[in-house]
Amino acid sequence: MLNLPIVSTFLVLCMTSLARGTGNLPNILLLLSDDQDVELHGMFPLQRTRELFASSGAQLHNVYTPTPLCCPSRASVLTGQYAHNHRTLNNSYSGGCYGSHWREKMEPQALPVLLKQQGYRTFYAGKYLNHYSGDEVPPGWDEFYGLHGNSRYYNYTLRENERNVSYMDMYLTDLLKERALSFIRNATQQEGQPFFAIIAPPAAHAPYTPAPRHAGLFANVKALRTPSFNQLVKTPLDKHWLVASSKALKQNTLATIDKYFQQRWETLLAVDEMVAELAALLDVTEAINDTYIIYTSDNGYHMGQFAQPFDKRQPYETDIRVPLLIRGPGVPVHCSLHVPISLLDLAPTILDWAGGLIPEQMNGRSIKQDLEHCHDEKLDGASYQRTLLIEYWGEGNSHTFNPKCPWQLSDNMAGCTLDADCHCQDTRNNSYACVRDFRYHMDRIYCEFQDKENFVEAYDLAQDPYQMNNLGFDMLPIERALYSLLLHNLTKCAGPACYT
Ligand SMILES: *[C@@H]1O[C@H](CO)[C@@H](O)[C@H](O)[C@H]1NC(C)=O
Ligand SMILES: *[C@@H]1O[C@H](CO)[C@@H](O)[C@H](O)[C@H]1NC(C)=O
Ligand SMILES: *[C@@H]1O[C@H](CO)[C@@H](O)[C@H](O)[C@H]1NC(C)=O
Ligand SMILES: *[C@@H]1O[C@H](CO)[C@@H](O)[C@H](O)[C@H]1NC(C)=O
Ligand SMILES: *[C@@H]1O[C@H](CO)[C@@H](O)[C@H](O)[C@H]1NC(C)=O
Ligand SMILES: *[C@@H]1O[C@H](CO)[C@@H](O)[C@H](O)[C@H]1NC(C)=O
Ligand SMILES: *[C@@H]1O[C@H](CO)[C@@H](O)[C@H](O)[C@H]1NC(C)=O
Repeated sequence: MLNLPIVSTFLVLCMTSLARGTGNLPNILLLLSDDQDVELHGMFPLQRTRELFASSGAQLHNVYTPTPLCCPSRASVLTGQYAHNHRTLNNSYSGGCYGSHWREKMEPQALPVLLKQQGYRTFYAGKYLNHYSGDEVPPGWDEFYGLHGNSRYYNYTLRENERNVSYMDMYLTDLLKERALSFIRNATQQEGQPFFAIIAPPAAHAPYTPAPRHAGLFANVKALRTPSFNQLVKTPLDKHWLVASSKALKQNTLATIDKYFQQRWETLLAVDEMVAELAALLDVTEAINDTYIIYTSDNGYHMGQFAQPFDKRQPYETDIRVPLLIRGPGVPVHCSLHVPISLLDLAPTILDWAGGLIPEQMNGRSIKQDLEHCHDEKLDGASYQRTLLIEYWGEGNSHTFNPKCPWQLSDNMAGCTLDADCHCQDTRNNSYACVRDFRYHMDRIYCEFQDKENFVEAYDLAQDPYQMNNLGFDMLPIERALYSLLLHNLTKCAGPACYT
């Protein structure tokens, strides 16, 4: 059963009407965390969240971000499109992160606008696109509490509907929780109108600041020592340039990784409380069985794998695989689904639930049917015949240059920080496209890098889950050529043709 914390008795006594939408359209609540991995047990701290979905709902296992970076991935969640179509390519304004193309062409046809047309009351709270600066409330949101800039935990500004409001000492996750509780309380009293809410807390993004009540609770936890932890390449054909040029992590960096790993988990405890309180409120307002709740993250994270300190932006499972939990009408209990899914699929799925048409420009597909037929999973082979595109444009320019580290401005490196002992975590030529292949019972990835070596990496995840053994240069030429053609197609795909 759910815990029922801090729900006002007023509410319990006075709540009469139920939040059933027009024509019984369901409510939809999307929780979008930041940089939360699944490979390094990033869901572990969310004990109550996991219980909520375990008792009634689905756990989806093969879920991938289309781009392992916040801004492009969030743009994909909101549009249902690959980055090469929505054109938010990196975290810079110049790379389309809240640039003019986004505001003029993408936002007017994004998910909140479409759901508003379906009669939904819409709400956003938390990190939006990294370069959002509070200039205006994006279209489609009835209520908007959008963070200016990138994730932080204290000392931030929110665009709260018509005003900008700055806070020094209020822990951001807790503030978002209060806004969301208030919205849901109001929305569930509005008989006849369903709601759509996105809540995007800063956890577990840097600077990994836990709420004071959670600080130190994981002090005895260490970063997971996967077989790839602090492993260097053995031959130059093992990994692409950035990873191949890594040096072993020193003691002080290992200690930093352990500390950040603990703190990341601690930041997620406030998210767990938020989810539990939102679910308890939905329960007490009797809206819980008419509400889809989705829990996911924009991208994963690595901590020490292949001697890369702490970041996303690499084409490995740590970075590209994300958690996904779903519960709601028609989703059977104890559903455990291995169908390949991209975060692009959320927008079409949500529209499908909301009785809307899925627009031509979307690149994903609805997984409504897969969820409903979860327990016949093995019968439904077609959903497995799928390839997912992962695309990434390496970052590195004069703004990311750190003069305190031993690199030149002209090297176009990024994320070279003193706390990582100047290991650079990105570079301009860390640009790649991968196809994550689940066809014919395979479990593979094939990646091509846009660098001067035309480097290739490929792994058979069924045999080699930690991606130690690059098969890219051992494949038959015909097989490699077919993957290359498929990638060529996918990186240019548009509309529903992207769903292959
Ligand atoms: C909010 O702040 C942004 C700059 O960060 C500014 O452009 C905008 O006009 C402000 N909006 C209001 C309503 O004050
Ligand atoms: C709060 O943020 C502002 C602007 O980003 C910065 O100038 C200031 O030093 C910060 N204050 C604290 C206490 O961190
Ligand atoms: C909920 O409704 C109350 C009373 O109308 C209002 O003051 C409050 O701002 C609303 N909260 C949200 C988040 O809409
Ligand atoms: C929701 O559904 C469950 C399972 O059918 C049921 O036990 C519970 O009472 C329902 N809750 C509400 C608020 O209707
Ligand atoms: C992001 O992409 C734009 C357009 O390609 C580029 O100008 C910019 O330098 C990139 N940002 C970083 C940090 O590399
Ligand atoms: C990638 O960029 C770095 C820095 O500019 C350069 O030293 C290196 O040779 C490049 N590697 C490849 C494979 O393109
Ligand atoms: C690439 O697209 C072309 C044109 O649609 C198609 O004929 C071809 O089979 C595709 N190749 C692969 C490997 O998917």
